[in-house]
Amino acid sequence: MSGAGVGPGVGPGVAGLLAEVADVGRDATRGGYSRYVYDDAELTLREWFTEQAERRSMEVETDRNGALWAWRHGGGPGSPGSPGAPSAVVTGSHLDSVPGGGAYDGPLGVASALAAVDLLDARGVRSERPLAVVAFPEEEGARFGVACLGSRLLTGAVDPDRARGLRDADGRTFAEVAGAAGLDVAHIGADPRRLAGIGAFVELHVEQGRGLVDLDRPVAVGSSVLGHGRWRLVVEGEGNHAGTTLMADRRDPLVAAAAVVLAVREVAARYDDARATVGRLQPVPGGTNVIASRVDLWLDARHPDDAVTAALVEQVHARAQELAAAEGCTVTLVEESYGGTVHFDGALRDRIRGVLPGAPVLATGAGHDAGVLAGAVPTAMLFTRNPSGVSHSPHEHVEDVDAEAGAVALADVLADLLGD
Ligand code: GLV
Ligand code: MN
Ligand code: MN
Repeated sequence: MSGAGVGPGVGPGVAGLLAEVADVGRDATRGGYSRYVYDDAELTLREWFTEQAERRSMEVETDRNGALWAWRHGGGPGSPGSPGAPSAVVTGSHLDSVPGGGAYDGPLGVASALAAVDLLDARGVRSERPLAVVAFPEEEGARFGVACLGSRLLTGAVDPDRARGLRDADGRTFAEVAGAAGLDVAHIGADPRRLAGIGAFVELHVEQGRGLVDLDRPVAVGSSVLGHGRWRLVVEGEGNHAGTTLMADRRDPLVAAAAVVLAVREVAARYDDARATVGRLQPVPGGTNVIASRVDLWLDARHPDDAVTAALVEQVHARAQELAAAEGCTVTLVEESYGGTVHFDGALRDRIRGVLPGAPVLATGAGHDAGVLAGAVPTAMLFTRNPSGVSHSPHEHVEDVDAEAGAVALADVLADLLGD
């Protein structure tokens, strides 16, 4: 790992920082990156983050839920939330990815935060208010199924017992995996004292659509996060032999699941602004010459209005029951996570717009830790242009010059907030 020496002339710059981790967690099968919480790649990124923070004389701590916090001088783990301590300014994002994801979703926000610290140092910005860079675990929920698990635990939005029992694809529980990585899983859960010590959280993220491309601008200020959730549908039938079972005798859950996938699109089309996706479907046991006994499929549904999302999911469930019954199968539906539409703090957003005049204000259909924290602390987001407009894909991209513009914008915002 060595700095590439690019950027705005201060430190390695965002592109230089990302170049240091460009080989970590590459997925030779899917393309792009697969970096799952507490796997080798994500642990390597955590080490890299810690090393980078220490290089900047930041004090690193792991919170009770496994998030890494790097405190710049003037602040420290003891100070946020201490009586009389000035409230902290926090920035950062996540290091984990979806399966076969891009290089920027998450790491761009962390690298931009580190580059912003370099810019503040170069500008001689010191402050009474503590500044921290945070890296949240399991933002994508790619390993344990619950998106933004770290920030949901921090804010109390997920029950610790439920979190401890979540299982990955190999059947290992979060408690086992996080415990093996050194987390004291008996003590995960809400941390109101830490939250009380935060005056503002600003997450910079790669834009996951074409808003900035269409506006021909490098950086935007976030306005809202679309309400979204995940549901698991389990279709059960009868496992059997592919050669000896007559077509008329089958109760094939994969046939029912295929019909459910089509029904999801049909139901979503009834609602303006709805987005509904089945991106993962798992036949059990999954053999070429085996009629599956069961299929798990996951529904991701999003809409600005909670009531519409609830109606959409209910209709998918009802349709899935009909389709399963027609194949002699059964289906159950369980919610795995949900968060309503979030509008970021208006006063903080206006203040940031004052610092970044001309930056457009954009909503996002993607989920973020910022969306979870917004319920507990004043929260804002910045987006950096993605010329491909594509995300959750190896084709996600950020030009180096835009990455640096994002870091400069973030440094300007942090300097302003620290000035209080
Ligand atoms: C995370 O990026 C999500 O929107 O699911
Ligand atoms: Mn993502
Ligand atoms: Mn993200």
